[in-house]
Amino acid sequence: MNPLIAPSILAADFANLQKEVEMINDSVADYIHVDIMDGVFVPNISFGLPVVEAVNRHAKKPLDVHLMIVEPDKYLEAFHKAGASQITVHLEACPHLHRTIQAIKALDCKAGVAVNPHTPVRHLQDIIREVDTVLIMSVNPGFGGQEFIENTYKKIQALGELIVETGSHAKIEIDGGVSIGNAKKLFEAGANVLVAGNFVFSSENPIETINNLKFIV
Ligand code: DX5
Ligand code: ZN
Repeated sequence: MNPLIAPSILAADFANLQKEVEMINDSVADYIHVDIMDGVFVPNISFGLPVVEAVNRHAKKPLDVHLMIVEPDKYLEAFHKAGASQITVHLEACPHLHRTIQAIKALDCKAGVAVNPHTPVRHLQDIIREVDTVLIMSVNPGFGGQEFIENTYKKIQALGELIVETGSHAKIEIDGGVSIGNAKKLFEAGANVLVAGNFVFSSENPIETINNLKFIV
């Protein structure tokens, strides 16, 4: 078994987005990770629906859409129409998380829930059986290229225990500061999906970098 790899196009060259998506198509990546930031939930704005639609026109891998926005319920259908295969919302942005997760599933999308570095994974206890993925933020959301937070390993372990305890089938996805320096340790700790932005797109040969992340074990 190998980790699933989700290159984050937040770190791509937006002026050459088609080329960047084609690079991901040609690689062993499993998903295209799409970061949506609203300038409210996080202190940054990335891009919106027309860009997701444009990416989807060229993508041959499923779009893993990570919504770092308040009131995500308003936009679930629009992101589904724009091409999302999986939609991940933040626990911290959803006062009615159960309802939001059901709404994503009703669209026939995979449903993910993300937790910020300060949010204990035990807060997922009563929702974890409903979700396809739990995304653990290993940096504070809002920017690519930040330093990986070491406490993430403990959270992966605690989440793994919660998954076993509850009989959940959720995948564990790690987002932020992932590189060849921690990919193996993350996978061994129990991570199933690794998101990587800067490490992939700043490398000389992104296709080879994606390959290395996937086959590091
Ligand atoms: C951060 C985003 C991440 C980001 C990861 O808020 O959710 O997906 O693109 O970028 P790197 O891998 O550069 O930390
Ligand atoms: Zn992300």
